[in-house]
Amino acid sequence: TPSPVITLDGPAGAGKGTIACMLADKLGWHMLDSGAIYRVAALAALRSGVGLGDEKALAALLPTLNIEFNNGEAWLNGEMVTGEIRNETCASATSQIAALPAVRAALLVLQRNFRQLPGLVADGRDMGTVVFPEATHKFYLTASAEIRAERRLKQLSQQGLSAKLCDLIQDINARDERDTNRPVAPLKPAADALVIDTGSLDQTEVFATVLHYIA
Ligand code: C5P
Repeated sequence: TPSPVITLDGPAGAGKGTIACMLADKLGWHMLDSGAIYRVAALAALRSGVGLGDEKALAALLPTLNIEFNNGEAWLNGEMVTGEIRNETCASATSQIAALPAVRAALLVLQRNFRQLPGLVADGRDMGTVVFPEATHKFYLTASAEIRAERRLKQLSQQGLSAKLCDLIQDINARDERDTNRPVAPLKPAADALVIDTGSLDQTEVFATVLHYIA
């Protein structure tokens, strides 16, 4: 039997990443941060100067890249890029290239290879709908753009960085809009996903809801 998969999808800042880590830790399973794969690919595109809408050039570029993850670090062709892929420029480029079918196709096998025993917790936008439709349990975490932007602002200030809430709300809305309206693998809950609005819940409560559902 193939190893089990639990998927967590949802928009930016809904808290999927944290819950996915907590769950993978608790179960002793592997974890896939699929957004990080798209982000490393976008960084490579930015650096190479390929147009972010140039599907052909991107489809040629992606198979030449060596994208790896270990010990919580992201690597592009042997260079650690964990910090660089998190900035807003890279996030925006990411959602642009992620809208292209050839880009998504090129990154599919890389994502599915994370499925290894004893199991996988996969975090992203289309984990339950496209990449692992046969997943054991599926979750869709969401919250309003305002709440997600406030969380992001808090994260940034903890890192000693400042930003304007209105700018963050705008960035989040632009990214949601692109992710939701793209024709391939749009952001949406799988028909069999449990939808959790994390707006009024703290991390502990969300995690308890998830554990209760899979128990
Ligand atoms: O989750 P994260 O914010 O790191 O994702 C960055 C971007 O990557 C998203 O806005 C989305 O455009 C893209 N993405 C995607 N499919 C995934 C994961 C991320 O299209 N499974």
